[in-house]
Amino acid sequence: MQGKRILLGVTGGIAAYKSPDLVRRLRERGAEVQVVMTAAAREFVTATTFQAVSGRAVRTDLWDAAAEAAMGHIELARWAEVVLIAPASADFLARLATGQADDLLATLCLATEAPIGVAPAMNRIMWANPATRANVATLQQRGIQLFGPGEGDQACGEVGEGRMLEPLELVDRVATLLIGGGPLQGRRVLITAGPTRERIDPVRFISNRSSGKMGFAVAQAAREAGAEVILVSGPVSLPTPPGVRRVDVESAADMLATVLREVEGIDIFISTAAVADYRPARPANQKIKKTSDTLDLCMERTSDVLATVAARPKRPFVVGFAAETESVEQNARLKLLKKNLDMIAANEVGHDKAFDCEDNQLIVLWRNARHELGKASKLMLARELVGLIAESFDAARAGAGQRDTALA
Ligand code: CTP
Repeated sequence: MQGKRILLGVTGGIAAYKSPDLVRRLRERGAEVQVVMTAAAREFVTATTFQAVSGRAVRTDLWDAAAEAAMGHIELARWAEVVLIAPASADFLARLATGQADDLLATLCLATEAPIGVAPAMNRIMWANPATRANVATLQQRGIQLFGPGEGDQACGEVGEGRMLEPLELVDRVATLLIGGGPLQGRRVLITAGPTRERIDPVRFISNRSSGKMGFAVAQAAREAGAEVILVSGPVSLPTPPGVRRVDVESAADMLATVLREVEGIDIFISTAAVADYRPARPANQKIKKTSDTLDLCMERTSDVLATVAARPKRPFVVGFAAETESVEQNARLKLLKKNLDMIAANEVGHDKAFDCEDNQLIVLWRNARHELGKASKLMLARELVGLIAESFDAARAGAGQRDTALA
């Protein structure tokens, strides 16, 4: 974030008391922050507070001749590399959705070409109101990123969805809008994540313990590194990382069909999904009744999504994952060779490790090299892994270029 120019819009809500801390956190990361407050925001926090923490005069008024003379609002809209509205009130979201330009902040949002992120904060019933839902859907369709809201205790005494995300989390989210010059800039990355569900009958399925967290972290890290990211996800309860296009699937067969549809033009394929290896051979059309003491399920093999992509004639750079309960490195190396992968990241699972945990550790293998990534949060590991993938991808392309020159 060093030297990045962030325009922070503060609108009227009790969560505005957290915004000076947000300014501090952004500045700690090296960003320049220009605060713009709406009239309602000034009912909650003073401009003096923001001026002190941002080190810049706060802008509040479209008609402030002196401020406009120093930097006109169109100039300010151009100055911003990213716009973050935190907190974003229900009223401000409505004004943004209808393209109003009736105060300085709304005008800036209309006049900027910078990416915009909004961090809503409001009473849970206001957030759930169909009017707010429709406004948010409109904003998302236009590419405005939604950060939160979170769930929990509300200032009004209620409990539910509508809390502004914490400043540190917002700093992470804003970082994803400041894409530019990362090691995967201009690359297209396709990622699978989560478990799959294989139907037994209309009400039952077979699945596994994958939470999808590692795959979602890899998607976020690849996006932060500048890539265009498509995330094909099995059933999980995780928010889509900002700026990532997500396609939801259910079964291994759905995942394969979706991946084959999306893989054209992809530079890097990363397969983190815990795809079912077997599915019920003949799923019942009606609910199976308990008519006997035992039940035999005949299972058949599913297709291997990763191996199918790796076997394509014009294939992307292919990265697999190996989830092992024993002989981790040995088994992973076998998979690397058998599935003809460029790289594989292996981890130990089971015995309370990896699945559904916040932390993980990985051994990364190439045909003739290895690298260990020590225990850390899944997002930190994902960022390191994406760095290694970007390096290997560049090296593989340089190698292919050299081979092509030699052949010519
Ligand atoms: N994979 C896949 N499609 C499958 C099975 C696995 O794409 N039907 C991918 C996973 O996403 C992962 C890699 O293959 O990147 C290895 O998955 P893993 O479950 O560890 O190994 P399997 O190949 O299923 O082998 P086994 O279950 O025998 O260990």
